[in-house]
Amino acid sequence: MRSPILDYLDTIIAETEHVVSGESADYIPELAAADPDRVAVALCTVNGTVYASGDTGHRFSIQSMSKPFAYALAIEDRGLESVLHHIGVEPSGEAFNELSLDPETGQPRNPMINAGAIAAHSLIDDDRQSAVDRLLALFSQLADRPVEIDEAVAASELATGDRNLGLAYLLHSSGRLTREPRSAVEGYIRQCAASVDVRDLALMAATLANGGVQPNTGDRLFSRAGTRHLLSVMASCGMYDAAGDWLTAVGIPAKSGVAGGIIGVLPGQVGVAVFSPRLDPHGNSARGVAMMQRLSDDLGLHLM
Ligand code: DON
Repeated sequence: MRSPILDYLDTIIAETEHVVSGESADYIPELAAADPDRVAVALCTVNGTVYASGDTGHRFSIQSMSKPFAYALAIEDRGLESVLHHIGVEPSGEAFNELSLDPETGQPRNPMINAGAIAAHSLIDDDRQSAVDRLLALFSQLADRPVEIDEAVAASELATGDRNLGLAYLLHSSGRLTREPRSAVEGYIRQCAASVDVRDLALMAATLANGGVQPNTGDRLFSRAGTRHLLSVMASCGMYDAAGDWLTAVGIPAKSGVAGGIIGVLPGQVGVAVFSPRLDPHGNSARGVAMMQRLSDDLGLHLM
């Protein structure tokens, strides 16, 4: 028998059909070509049961939703104290692609904006394997299937990556980038081009909801303390300069990506993922935010 949860997810999609404001990201040409009407939603419980509706098999690039996982990996590798020396945990109140350095310490404000994410990518231990390969292995463990890079997206963003390169050179000059700027940005852009669908993302979010343990395999991928720290940073900084609106309206730690995905985490309960390419002025999926708001209201996800 079809689960009533699937009927409910179909309803969420149908009832947010009117949210057609915004455009697909256009500063990465390959994303501008995306079909703006694709839509999908998935939930994964901490027991690993996934419910998904809409264009569930459609893959898109993970983009900034990779940032929490790269940050968590850097913490596992270097320890929290060392990572906090390089990257702050304060909301920047600015757009995701601003430099947003603390004027006193020279640190990028947080690891969810591009500057902080480039710094986090550079902190991943690459002695034996490249940071990108380690991240792909991590994404594959999280999604419980082999995750690969969308090479067309990576090439498209590399060809238009001047702004991120600029950020990386400024970070380097402030002593907060441990790698050569060009290679750091190339690695970060490949990290963002990993290709996923909403089921993968719901499982990734559910791993965070489950305190760092992948629900299907039982593998501990992040320490409990590291996961708690990460979720706190996602709650305050994950939705950029819309973080306050998000936390009051939806009320769970989250992260968006410019391809149109958003993940949300209700600790101890469920991971949520939505996808719709049209973006609001903050660079978050407009219909994705509407779907998350409905889920939060209907299922009582709000933490407060
Ligand atoms: O660095 C960039 O601009 C992209 N690779 C990622 C930005 C992003 O996903 C912003 N989020 N909504």
